[in-house]
Amino acid sequence: MRINIAIDGPSAAGKSTIAKKLAEHLGYVHLDTGAMYRCTALKAVRNGIALDDEQGVCTMLENTDICLMTDGTVFLDGEDVSKAIRTDEISLAASAVSKMPQVRADLVARQQKMAEAKGFIMDGRDIGTVVLKDAELKIFMTASPEARAERRYKQNIEKGIPTSDVETIAEEIRQRDYEDTHRAASPLKKADDAVEIDTSYMSIQEVCDAILSLAEPFLVREGSNE
Ligand code: DC
Repeated sequence: MRINIAIDGPSAAGKSTIAKKLAEHLGYVHLDTGAMYRCTALKAVRNGIALDDEQGVCTMLENTDICLMTDGTVFLDGEDVSKAIRTDEISLAASAVSKMPQVRADLVARQQKMAEAKGFIMDGRDIGTVVLKDAELKIFMTASPEARAERRYKQNIEKGIPTSDVETIAEEIRQRDYEDTHRAASPLKKADDAVEIDTSYMSIQEVCDAILSLAEPFLVREGSNE
């Protein structure tokens, strides 16, 4: 039996990077749920749907295909939008659509369906509390806004994504933290049974090793077919 691993935490805490590496190591599938909210936001913006028009966004979603490939490529209705969903404008728009309960219900249902087969590492804000309440391992990953802004800035430069300076990114991160933790629908919060890891001063490898050692008891059981 394979397990599911839930990784939640604020934006730019390194969730996707870590989840991707762990998935490669374990031969699991990484599912970046933030990319689904970003796709929803991108399509709404492109179609001129107001970011407070919940019904409009929901109706749009009914005819929207979001496909997350194992190599990290994101397809929206067949178009590769991997870069287009990472701009600062779409980050803010994604935060707006993620407040809509009906949008969340639609995307959560898609995520739960995908994870039925087990062997998933899913990262987001509500994975341990809503999407995969029964995940065998739940991680709550945090880092200071300054550390996260530095990382996001470097990542943007490396990926050729237009970027603001570090201080502006840190300010946006603080704003999104506030919005993610104070919204009414599934606010970002640590599940009671999640293990918190502050990655501010940890390398990617150190975080992976910490999670792997927490997963080990389950993986051993998996190997012995118990
Ligand atoms: O992780 P990210 O920055 O790509 O997420 C984009 C937005 O989507 C962010 O504002 C939080 C929101 N989100 C969410 O509400 N629930 C999730 N499971 C994943 C992301």
